[in-house]
Amino acid sequence: MGVSKLSPAISYISFIALYFSFYTVASTSSNSLQDDFINCLHQNTNVDFPLEKTFFTPQSNASLFIEVLKSTAQNQRYLTKSMPKPEFIFKPVHESHVQASIICSKKLGIHHHVRSGGHDYEGLSYVSHIETPFIIIDLSKLRQINVDIEDNSVWVQAGATVGELYYRISEKSKIHGCPAGIYPSLGIGGHITGGAYGSLMRKYGLAADNVLDAKIVDANGKLLDRTAMGEDMFWAIRGGAGGSFGIILSWKINLVPVPQTLTVFTVTKTLDQDAGFKILSKWQQVADKLVEELFLRVFFTIAGNNENKTVAMSYIGQFLGDKGNLMEVMNKGFPELGLSMKDCIEMNWIESIMYSSGFSTTTPPPPEVLLQAKSPIGEVYFKAKSDFAKEPIPILGLKGMIKKFLEENAALMIWTPYGGMMDKNP
Ligand SMILES: Cc1cc2nc3c(=O)[nH]c(=O)nc-3n(C[C@H](O)[C@H](O)[C@H](O)COP(=O)(O)OP(=O)(O)OC[C@H]3O[C@@H](n4cnc5c(N)ncnc54)[C@H](O)[C@@H]3O)c2cc1C
Ligand SMILES: *[C@@H]1O[C@H](CO)[C@@H](O)[C@H](O)[C@H]1NC(C)=O
Ligand SMILES: *[C@@H]1O[C@H](CO)[C@@H](O)[C@H](O)[C@H]1NC(C)=O
Repeated sequence: MGVSKLSPAISYISFIALYFSFYTVASTSSNSLQDDFINCLHQNTNVDFPLEKTFFTPQSNASLFIEVLKSTAQNQRYLTKSMPKPEFIFKPVHESHVQASIICSKKLGIHHHVRSGGHDYEGLSYVSHIETPFIIIDLSKLRQINVDIEDNSVWVQAGATVGELYYRISEKSKIHGCPAGIYPSLGIGGHITGGAYGSLMRKYGLAADNVLDAKIVDANGKLLDRTAMGEDMFWAIRGGAGGSFGIILSWKINLVPVPQTLTVFTVTKTLDQDAGFKILSKWQQVADKLVEELFLRVFFTIAGNNENKTVAMSYIGQFLGDKGNLMEVMNKGFPELGLSMKDCIEMNWIESIMYSSGFSTTTPPPPEVLLQAKSPIGEVYFKAKSDFAKEPIPILGLKGMIKKFLEENAALMIWTPYGGMMDKNP
């Protein structure tokens, strides 16, 4: 009897003790972790890092910490209260700080997540999907861009956005471009590690196909360029995806020629206007076979209200040439769309970037907005998936797809054609 009376008391005490020790560990660990990390950084770099500009913790200033955490996080789903938050965010201001971060997180046994532009679909650069403490190494202060028209190339640091890259090129030349993604707030660091496709890919391939050199910090904190890393690793980092082989500090990318005059257009068809999917089926047959100068996507959105809910299919095109030549291509290869001269808008390359990137097309802001690194769609909660279709989807499949699509209140689907240069890369 005595024993049974005693044992609950003991377990009660040990529960308290456990709780207490857990509490102490938790409350002191993050501060001392940061202190240890800072001390370790000092031992591994000679370049100063002012703490108030480089370290952000919930303890030192909670609202500033959240502001920095949110700053480039594109998917709001991974910022909700229940989502794990980093112990702290470190913003290196020098390349050696990135090297030191690797050495120090290894030494202290803390997981690190690297963030360039924060556009990972599943928030991998700013949330942890396993229950373990982590820190964020945010590269947003490493965003230098050096355009060299003579050399036909650009060195761009990982924390810059593609919008900034495009703007800096257009500042120097109206007839040079760079093949990368369509969305201006994408971060150069994560984006190109996955390939980076965009409106110039049918003519010039992916950004990864146009990479000439790179600087990367490996798992031992060593800084490597193309020569030092060797051709196998150089091959692997151009498509092997973010966080796989080290931290990219910068890419050297080939510039490509773009004409002074490009033509853009948007032609929208509702389900009624494309009964029997004649236009959509034809697009599937020709979009990857038309001239490489033409990049013609289809955007599917929900339109109308409850009584007339429908799917709007917007054919959004960018053509490397004037509207006369575009009309010839379309009349010959895709007359079903009914493109007319008055749909065509001529502009230069940087204006065409603005047109395709989600900013208002009726009253577009000046291209300088690309330097603000802001996402045109702002704060959104989303789930996104990508897939490849190698054969045209038959009418029956299209009907089923549209039926499913109409069950949603808000949805977006984008069809992007490959072909051209994309067929030539095995
Ligand atoms: C709205 C939107 C539009 C998009 N449009 C396009 C498009 O037009 N074309 C296209 O090809 N893709 C597009 N994508 C996909 C995009 O290319 C990838 O999500 C890409 O990984 C984003 O890079 P980031 O630096 O912005 O993202 P981050 O979230 O910062 O990083 C993505 C991943 O790479 C890792 N990483 C980040 N920086 C580095 C680094 N310097 N070195 C090594 N690893 C790093 C991160 O840890 C994470 O795992 C789009 C995505 C979104 C959300
Ligand atoms: C915390 O950061 C905010 C900016 O988000 C700033 O306005 C405020 O003054 C800071 N508070 C302290 C105590 O430093
Ligand atoms: C749906 O009807 C509303 C008016 O009831 C109209 O303004 C809108 O343009 C219609 N949408 C479509 C896609 O037909």
